Amino acid sequence: MVKDQNIKYLFEPRSVAVIGASSNKGKIGNAVISNIIKGGYKNKIFPINPKGGEIEGIKAYKSVLDVPDEIDIACITVPAKFVLESVKECAAKGVKYAIVITSGFSEIGKIEEERKLVEAAREKGMRILGPNVFGIFTAEVSLNSTFTGSVIPSGNLGIITQSGALGVVMIGQATVGNIGLSAIVSVGNKADVDEGDLIEYMIAQDRTKVILIYMEGVHEGERLVETLKRATKIKPVVIIKSGRSTRGAMAAASHTGSLAGSDTVFDDVIKQCGALRAENMTEAFEWSKFLANNPLPAGENTVIITNGGGAGVMATDACEKYDIILYDDSNHLKTIFSPATPEFGSTKNPIDITGQAKAEDYVKAFNAALHDPEIHSVIGVFCESSLFTHKDLDMAVEQNYRQFKAAGKPIVFCLLGGETVDEYARESRRKNIPVYNDVYEGVAALGAMYSYKRYAEEKEDEVADFKFDVAAVDDIVDNARQEGRSFLLSHEGQEVMRVTGIAVPKSMIAVNIESAVKSAAAIGYPVVMKVVSKDILHKSDAGGIALDLVNDEEIISAYEAIMRNCRAHVPHAVIEGVEISEMVQPGTEMIVGARIDGSFGPTVMVGLGGIYVEVMKDVSFRATPLGRREIMAMIKEIRSYPLLLGVRGEKTRDINALVDTIIKIGAVIRNCKGISDIEINPLVLYEQGMGARAVDVRIILSREER
Ligand code: COA
Repeated sequence: MVKDQNIKYLFEPRSVAVIGASSNKGKIGNAVISNIIKGGYKNKIFPINPKGGEIEGIKAYKSVLDVPDEIDIACITVPAKFVLESVKECAAKGVKYAIVITSGFSEIGKIEEERKLVEAAREKGMRILGPNVFGIFTAEVSLNSTFTGSVIPSGNLGIITQSGALGVVMIGQATVGNIGLSAIVSVGNKADVDEGDLIEYMIAQDRTKVILIYMEGVHEGERLVETLKRATKIKPVVIIKSGRSTRGAMAAASHTGSLAGSDTVFDDVIKQCGALRAENMTEAFEWSKFLANNPLPAGENTVIITNGGGAGVMATDACEKYDIILYDDSNHLKTIFSPATPEFGSTKNPIDITGQAKAEDYVKAFNAALHDPEIHSVIGVFCESSLFTHKDLDMAVEQNYRQFKAAGKPIVFCLLGGETVDEYARESRRKNIPVYNDVYEGVAALGAMYSYKRYAEEKEDEVADFKFDVAAVDDIVDNARQEGRSFLLSHEGQEVMRVTGIAVPKSMIAVNIESAVKSAAAIGYPVVMKVVSKDILHKSDAGGIALDLVNDEEIISAYEAIMRNCRAHVPHAVIEGVEISEMVQPGTEMIVGARIDGSFGPTVMVGLGGIYVEVMKDVSFRATPLGRREIMAMIKEIRSYPLLLGVRGEKTRDINALVDTIIKIGAVIRNCKGISDIEINPLVLYEQGMGARAVDVRIILSREER
């Protein structure tokens, strides 16, 4: 979809109309107009109500068509049955955006009614936000056209939310946490405007320092990926997505499908885009606030300064979990921290200034870290004690924080203690000092910052291009379709592999016992025999596979057994013969898949293969197109990655061959419109330089031409 050139008008309207503005307190149409006035919107306001007159002291028009001025946005708060008419009038008036607050459209199954709204708007070049939204707050023009009861604090966090109700909650939380907003928009049913359009504005807008998105489902995933990748190069994006269920995915026809629970793919793709996925609302706000108010570290060296050994160990664990690198030059640490550490303390990271530390000792240690160019960020951990009480916190926290901030060095404070410490922490948070009651929370916020920094500073990964004979694959697909099949037979799948240059075992088709014997001799023993039948997709379940056949006698008895098993298992199956293939040498069994994901379009998957893939679920996903570096990141994410580096004296596996295979099947899924799923399992990976073999290839066709 093309970029919306007008999006600025949604966030910086020169005039606002409220269709269904009402004088009746308690009605949404009254709340919206009252909030616009109370919020201090300086530009033109036009209440629209069939009765005319005045609403909240402003002249009301009976119809939007009567308004003598141009209107940039119109908030619609009339009942659902009148919305289409209002949309048509707004479109005729030349309104740029209609914000349809009214509920009762696709969210209750009224899809056609919703489609008609978009159609009527688009005819005249108007766009629709919603329906089923709570409006928009935008600090740029002090416009609060939501129906929330709270005053929205202005600041630099931009929020996009699919749920209006949670949007209201977020406004409440932002107020409590003293987090100012640059804008908050709810997208509701996303009939037209979606996250992609809104992110686009927030990327360009200086006021927004961090973007926070709450989403439930993904529309136009490919565009979202492209927009997010650009956004995160410029400012941090924090995402909370609900709906971690994999329901539905199990019914998919391939392993790749069933492993691609929508949330797994979402999680991996969001990481790929450099966005930070928060577990819950508290975490999302903590990260957003920390990222918006604090400088990025100049480097990766972090130190923990603590008065409690145990708390220091906990912070160390948390650093490992959130990928924070603890500075470990022990000589240097000793030089700079000895003056602040008693003999029985430790200058090894964590720096343990011990339970006898007073506020001055913390100041000394913090100062050492502040002025040392080798140290780039600090985690201050405090345990309440009789020597260090909440009264000491003032000296140890606020002033140090201001100095660190001014010096461009991030610092987080984790305060562990009782009620008074809790109160102090709450109060400090209101002053936007990064103070946490738990070690993990503070470390997680710093970890999110590092994760963002690493992504933002990484050079663009060059997309790996792979050209192949697309027409040859399309011919194989067309042929299968003409035979009424929705999948390719094994030898056809292997043919697709040959077209793309992915090595497959030597194989031949035999239609009777004699030709089976001849084929086996031509290929060379040992061989594998597999049934060929369009009616049998799961060959091993049907007893249609025999492995490691070493001579003619074994070929004859395997042939007879396969025919017997398959006829018993699928009585009406038309059996075309058997495929005789070379028995491949053992290696590391991987799975490589590619599929058209319902949300993100063409995606690829890699994981540990074999028969236990669905149990192990050791896989990772990425949206295509992608470059070699991102493919490596995807491979490194799987738990079994160390196996590829060689264990117990084994040599490193041919990881390059694995990367090449992923690039190739990624290219097939992107270019061959008739294919919806490709799965190679196992892809046997040999030692470095020896390549890989695609032993079993399963290809499923799209239901209709894409
Ligand atoms: N043009 C202008 N005004 C119109 C109109 C039209 N075509 N048709 C009706 N109105 C006026 C009504 O006269 C009324 O004004 P009044 O109080 O002066 O009589 C006003 O619009 C509202 O209409 P009303 O029939 O009273 O509706 P309502 O306020 O009970 O409900 C909604 C309207 C939109 C609030 C309701 O249908 C709805 O969708 N509620 C859910 C909203 C929601 O939760 N959204 C999602 C948030 S995340």
